[in-house]
Amino acid sequence: MTRVRKCVFPVAGMGSRFLPATKASPKEMMPIVDKPLIQYAVEEAVAAGITDMIFITGRNKRAIEDHFDMAYEVEAELAARGKKELLGLVRGIIPKHINCIYIRQPEPLGLGHAVLCAEPVVKDEPFAVILADDLIDGEPAVLKQMADVYEQHHCSVLGVEEVPREHTRQYGIVKTDGREPGVVSAIVEKPRPEDAPSTLAVVGRYILKPRIFHHLAKVQAGAGGEIQLTDGIAALLKEEKVLAYRFKGKRYDCGSKLGYLQAMVEYGKKHPETGVAFAAYLKSL
Ligand code: G1P
Repeated sequence: MTRVRKCVFPVAGMGSRFLPATKASPKEMMPIVDKPLIQYAVEEAVAAGITDMIFITGRNKRAIEDHFDMAYEVEAELAARGKKELLGLVRGIIPKHINCIYIRQPEPLGLGHAVLCAEPVVKDEPFAVILADDLIDGEPAVLKQMADVYEQHHCSVLGVEEVPREHTRQYGIVKTDGREPGVVSAIVEKPRPEDAPSTLAVVGRYILKPRIFHHLAKVQAGAGGEIQLTDGIAALLKEEKVLAYRFKGKRYDCGSKLGYLQAMVEYGKKHPETGVAFAAYLKSL
């Protein structure tokens, strides 16, 4: 059986909910304390044993490539000033054995289309997808939990959690047989609360079998006029088993201002450098 070795990061989105912050820089580069969201996502993939990071990028996303590349000027400057610790931090962003691969999505046609752009590199292997704006604090890392489920069951695995019914319009919602992990019998993109088959939402973690590409190449534009990953999965589950896994961990929806602020506060409180002082500050408010 092929292990999951590749992870796709769709990062071409415009980030309109964070304008003007995202006018000239990618939303995935927004920091939680001192690390950009995309770095948390890559670290989670590394923790799951992924070796090939495939970024689906678009215009204005150069900062992501630069972040995972050598930064000669910064490194030379830090070395000259004897700042060893910071130099280690900058150099150690990504372990040496990891490959970073960048593919441009020429048009913003939707998440399903972004994932399909990875096919020439993923080829015939199972692969993961991480949406960096769903930041999940989990131990072990959530993608590692899902890779373990994959190794047991050898089928696609979706990371899911319960959401309030009034929020179903923001998510892909699954119907399962109620087991843990549950076999998915239906998945709908962003249903109205009254139409949602359950309140179990897919958040930004997927392990997919390569057969998904066959379906993504065929699906028509769906919700929001976009080629939806959810619709590809809906077609896949008619042919193959797809599991919904309730991960252990706390998710922050960093695609929304409120979720982003919550993550900043929680990670700020835990940060080795600022945690104690920040927690004291919060108490004093
Ligand atoms: C995307 C997916 C949706 C999923 C969500 C998780 O939606 O289309 O199925 O539930 O991510 O965050 P988006 O948030 O990009 O609108």
